[in-house]
Amino acid sequence: MREQRSRYSTVSILLHWTIFVLIFANATFGGWMEEAAPNEKLDYYQLHKSVGITVLLLSLVRLGWRIAHPWPPFPDNMTTWERIIARGTHILFYVLMMGAPLLGWAAASAGGSPETPLFGALPGPNLPVPQGEELSETLGGLHKAMVKAIYVVLGLHVLGALKHHYLDKDEVLHRMLPLLRDPQR
Ligand code: HEM
Ligand code: HEM
Repeated sequence: MREQRSRYSTVSILLHWTIFVLIFANATFGGWMEEAAPNEKLDYYQLHKSVGITVLLLSLVRLGWRIAHPWPPFPDNMTTWERIIARGTHILFYVLMMGAPLLGWAAASAGGSPETPLFGALPGPNLPVPQGEELSETLGGLHKAMVKAIYVVLGLHVLGALKHHYLDKDEVLHRMLPLLRDPQR
């Protein structure tokens, strides 16, 4: 069943904002991990890996939900180009939300990082990738590039949301905000 026009489902809204907060937090944790003293690096690595793999798993759930519940239609007044940019941004986000943590995980695995448990409790195995310092550095570089791509796409995405809200004055921002009542229900 397609999501309603006037509102995203609670599941979509919850996943959207939870993943947003976790990506934002984990970009910060990544910085802490890189700057940590050698004796603290492993703790920060465990945190960064745990939150990052959570983003990956939640994004897979989100993708499954999106396939089962297609996007609501765009407002009628949107031009073809606006629709292409908006939808392209959404699809790119799905690629980046899963690609960035996956590459980070692959980089750590190729570098032979310890298999620290997720949140200190759940299994946190390495991925079955070939071992090598050079490969690990390449994957790490790609990981960081993908995170930067998230920032760029996010800029475009937020500008789009603000344009809908302040210039077009349509329902697009409202339908992704939590705690608002659906006027059609
Ligand atoms: C939402 C998910 C993630 C985000 C936003 C993210 C963000 C970042 C950022 C911003 C850095 C660079 C920090 C700096 O240079 O100051 C970084 C580095 C790194 N992250 Fe992630 N990360 C995510 C998931 C993961 C996961 C799941 C792993 C798996 C263990 C991981 C492993 C790494 C590694 C190994 C580095 C160092 C890479 C290098 O310097 O070559 N990341 N991450
Ligand atoms: C890294 C952070 C973010 C990611 C990965 C992201 C991703 C997405 C995706 C994939 C969609 C399409 C709906 C879906 O499939 O769930 C969407 C919709 C939306 N997002 Fe974000 N988003 C982020 C941050 C934000 C922020 C900060 C805002 C606030 C302005 C925002 C506002 C919206 C709105 C208003 C929609 C609905 C668009 C529509 O109905 O066509 N997002 N977002």
